[in-house]
Formats: sequence, C-alpha cells, structure tokens
Amino acid sequence: MSFNATILTLYPEMFPGPLGISLSGDALERGLWSLETKNIRDHGIGRHKNVDDTPAGGGVGMVLRCDVLASAIDAAVPPDDLRPKLLMTPRGKPLTQARVRELAAGPGVVIVCGRFEGVDERVIEGRNLEEVSIGDYVLSGGEMAAMVVLDACVRVIPGVMGKEASGHDESFESNLLEYPQYTRPREWEGRSLPDVLLSGNHALIDKWRREEAERITQERRPDLLR
Ligand code: 6GU
Repeated sequence: MSFNATILTLYPEMFPGPLGISLSGDALERGLWSLETKNIRDHGIGRHKNVDDTPAGGGVGMVLRCDVLASAIDAAVPPDDLRPKLLMTPRGKPLTQARVRELAAGPGVVIVCGRFEGVDERVIEGRNLEEVSIGDYVLSGGEMAAMVVLDACVRVIPGVMGKEASGHDESFESNLLEYPQYTRPREWEGRSLPDVLLSGNHALIDKWRREEAERITQERRPDLLR
C-alpha cells in the first residue's frame, strides 16, 4: 500500500517541481508515494477550451466553471476512490499537523488547485471537496499550496524519513516550538555556546531545552499554549 496523489491543475508542468528532489524526490523514486497530474483544460469548453467565466451577479475576476471541473474530477477519480478530495483555497480550513498525519495514514489525496478568483460553489458541494488553506495570506494559485500539503504528508509516510526525527520532538505535535540548536565551532564571532550544553548533564540540558521551547512559544505563538 502506498500514498497516491492526483493533482488537478491548469499548470501540470509545475509538478513535481521541488517534490522531485531531496526527501520527497527520493521517496518518489523508491515508490513510497506516487504523483499523477491532470490538466483541467483538457475538459474546457469549445475550440478555445474555456475553463472560466465571469462571476454570476457581476464583480471582478473569473470563476472556474463547475461543469468543467466536475468533468475533470469525474475523469480522474473513479466513484469507488476512497481518497479525500481537497480544494486548495485561502478560504479553506487551515491545515494542521494532525490533518497531515491523517492524510498520510490513508490511501492518498486528490488535490484540486484553484486559480482565478474562485471556483463555482456548486462543484465544491456536488463533488464533496474539502477546502484547505495553508495560512493567512493569498497565493496566486493553489499549486504551491498543494506542494506544501504533499511535502508535509510525504515526510511522515512510514519509511520515508528513517528513525531520526521522524516524529518525536516536532513543533506542533507537542504544541511547542523547537528549542534553539547549536553545533561547532564552540566560539563564533564572539558568541559562545550556552554553558549548559557543554555541561554533560543531560537532565539539566533537557530542562534548559524545555524552558527555552516554552519561552520561545510564549513569545512567538502564545496561541499554541492555549
Ligand atoms: Cl490553499 N491557495 C491559495 N491560492 N492561496 C492560499 C492558500 C491556498 N492558502 C493560503 N493562501
């Protein structure tokens, strides 16, 4: 069993992009996950393969047609496909590490990348699309957000990362941000390592790290401490 991703996009040439190198790229080559892209434009209307139109009721921008997107989804996803269908959009529910772990534990994902000012609401309802956002800022399209989702999922697929750091000490699982890290040299541009890290006292080091993590979380992300 492996994790299968299908991406519906107007820009399939953006993939695999960064997912083809480093950790996710190696895992792709090792067959731990797979990636398939489908061009929504293949389902466009008429000689010009139109995929969008002006908003009903007026307004600026263009809206992705429900019939075009439904046709693309239906051609790519068989009715018995168990994978959740995500729609990348800044109006979606914010992605969390908990949702990432759920997705990574399942059969994979179908991801629809939005473009233009939006997607006709009827296809969101009619094809049961789960709207997901990756943060409170606006991207020009869902493609980079889809890559973020896949990167986050792939690294927690069993066998991808190996033992080191494959899940312990991670920010957002403990609800704490990471403590500061140091390595050699012992002195750099007048800055020394914290004495405690040279003490060899591992109980004291653990305590210092826990307190640093709490201090940094309080300072930067008090919302995580609820
Ligand atoms: Cl998922 N898509 C787009 N286009 N912009 C975003 C986003 C998604 N998440 C945050 N901004």
